[in-house]
Amino acid sequence: EKRQRVFSGIQPSGNLTIGNYLGALKNWVAIQEENENFFCIVDLHALTVPQDPKVLSEKIREVAAIYLAVGLDPAHCTIFRQSKVSGHAELAWLLNCVARFGELSRMTQFKDKTVRGGADSASAGLFTYPVLMAADILLYNANLVPVGDDQRQHLELTRTLARRFNHLYGETFVVPEGMILESGARVMGLDDPTVKMSKSSKSPGHYVAILDDPDVIRKKIRRAKTDSGTEVTATPDKPAITNLLDIYSATTGRSVPELESEYAGRGYGDLKKGLAEAIVETLAPIRERALALLDDPAELDRLLDAGAERAGAVASEALGTAKAKMGL
Ligand code: ADP
Ligand code: NA
Repeated sequence: EKRQRVFSGIQPSGNLTIGNYLGALKNWVAIQEENENFFCIVDLHALTVPQDPKVLSEKIREVAAIYLAVGLDPAHCTIFRQSKVSGHAELAWLLNCVARFGELSRMTQFKDKTVRGGADSASAGLFTYPVLMAADILLYNANLVPVGDDQRQHLELTRTLARRFNHLYGETFVVPEGMILESGARVMGLDDPTVKMSKSSKSPGHYVAILDDPDVIRKKIRRAKTDSGTEVTATPDKPAITNLLDIYSATTGRSVPELESEYAGRGYGDLKKGLAEAIVETLAPIRERALALLDDPAELDRLLDAGAERAGAVASEALGTAKAKMGL
C-alpha cells in the first residue's frame, strides 16, 4: 500500500479520556510507521468554548506528553501546536468564505453543544469550528484522517469544501478520506451510555481519563452505570453493558462474543473487575511515561517548536498556493 499523508488532532481541553485513546490515539500509533503523519494539538479549537489561560497552557503540554507516552514517535510524526502555525487560522478564513452558513447550521455537533445554552450565546468560533478543522486537514494535503465516529459529519464538510474550492479556483486541495475504526470509534459515557464520552464533561463518573491513577480507574468502573438484568450480553436493551463490552474489546483486541462467553453466568461485578484490570494494564504505563515527560516541560516545548517548524514549512506552501488561486 502507498504511503499516505495523515493529519489528525485533539483539543487540549479537559482530561483526555479512554475514548480519545481508543477512538483516535491508539490507531494513530498503529499506522504511524507506514505513513507521513501530522499530529496536531488543536489549541485554537479549544478556544471555541471558555478556557482558563493558565490551565490551557498546562493542558497543551499534557496533550504533548500523552502523544509521546502512547507511543507516537517524532521520527515518524510531526507533533505540533496549531496556534504556532499561522496558516491554520489564515486558511480557515479563506475557507470561511467558501463555506455556507446553511451547511454549518446543519452540523449536529454545533446543535448538540448549544441545546442547553442556546446558539445565541455560543461563540462564533464554535459555529465555524468545522471550517477550521477543514483548514487543518487541507493545509497538509492529507489524504487520510483517522478520527472517531463523532467527526464523520465534519470530515464530510471538509471533503465538500475541498471539492468546492477546486471547482471554483482550479485543482488545489486533496480530497481526504476518513479512517474510522470498527471498534472503539464511539465510546459512550460511563454514567450515561446514551451520550458520547467527552473529556469536557463536568461529571466525575463520566469518563476514565488517560492519566487517572489505577485506583481511580477501578473506582470509576465499579461505579459505572449498568442495566437491569444480570446477563453480560451486548444487546440493544443493555446499552451500558454493551458500552462496557465495547471498551473491553477495543482495549484488549478480544471480540465482544468472546468476552460474552467468558462472562456468561458471572454477572456484572465480574465483568467490571476484568474490564478495570484490562484498562489499568493499558493505561498505567502510559500514565507513568506521561508524568515523567511532564517533569521536563522545556524538553516538551523544544519538541513542539521543532514540530511547528516542520509543519509550518508544509503549511505555508499550501497556503501560498490557495491564496494565489484566489487572486491574493
Ligand atoms: P472530545 O470530543 O473528547 O473533546 P476531541 O474533540 O478533541 O475530543 O476529539 C479528539 C479525537 O478523539 C477525535 O478523533 C474524536 O473523534 C475522538 N474521540 C473523542 N471522543 C471519543 C469517544 N467518546 N469515542 C471515540 N473517539 C472519540
Ligand atoms: Na469531539
